[in-house]
Amino acid sequence: MTEQPSAQPAPQRPIPKAGDLLALAVATARAAADLVRERAAGVVEVADTKSTATDVVTQADRDTEALIRRLISEQRPEDAFFGEEGEETGGTSGVRWIVDPIDGTVNFLYGLPRYAVSIAAEYAGEVVAGAVVDVAAGTLYAAFRQPDGSAAAVRDGEPVMVRPPAELSQRLIATGFSYDAGLRRVQAEALVRFLPVVRDVRRIGSAALDICGVAEGTLDGYLEEGLHLWDHAAACLVAEAAGARWEATTGAGGRRFVVVAPAHGYDELREAAVQAGFLPVDSVPGVVPD
Ligand code: IPD
Repeated sequence: MTEQPSAQPAPQRPIPKAGDLLALAVATARAAADLVRERAAGVVEVADTKSTATDVVTQADRDTEALIRRLISEQRPEDAFFGEEGEETGGTSGVRWIVDPIDGTVNFLYGLPRYAVSIAAEYAGEVVAGAVVDVAAGTLYAAFRQPDGSAAAVRDGEPVMVRPPAELSQRLIATGFSYDAGLRRVQAEALVRFLPVVRDVRRIGSAALDICGVAEGTLDGYLEEGLHLWDHAAACLVAEAAGARWEATTGAGGRRFVVVAPAHGYDELREAAVQAGFLPVDSVPGVVPD
């Protein structure tokens, strides 16, 4: 006799509460930041290179990601995990953790105190919780999405908000440059056209902290081509919850391009990015490589 498929409906998995995911993201990010801080006090050396000779990884990046993976899987073994330094693993719960153990690795290597742990939780393809810890300052940025779709952002427990409107020529915009020399050339050429139309440009060295800077109002905007999802997933939720708009699309060099700005100034910044040549005229929001 052949076995018949069961007539029983599959048990419904409970929809995870974004607040619970955020609590786990925060506790884990804090523990990870403690480890990174401990390693920063010792000797930091390059363990290996990745996409190019300047795209480096340290043992601290690897050990921190392993710690994050362990702490999360102890609590939620059925979740998927996508981190910068390890194998992507699948899950069955619908939740995927998107992790950058040290965003700003080059700063970490050089002892420049601008690097962060970034942990986002995605459910059904949407980021619903995000925690970013500025390791050297000890500051925590966090946000989660409420069931009605709204979200609130906090820095060390206090609400944060984007800066008020300003003319484009008065805006301070952060950016970053790729590890790939060819893409860097495209970025440098666009920068020549972009720099004269804004107040100034900052290259801080951690995309997650740049984007949290837009959220807390210490920057008027951020744009960069060549990011990976782990660099911006958590911080973009924080920025959105603080009143920013953001988009991931394909930049002039064919790589993931992210632009973040207060909602009131978003269109003007995006248009300036197109005019400068960071973005092709026909770029479509959400169409991102890798
Ligand atoms: C990098 C930083 C940097 C940005 C690069 C990122 P990593 O992340 O966020 O600011 O310019 O595009 O790759 O490699 O330090 O995790």
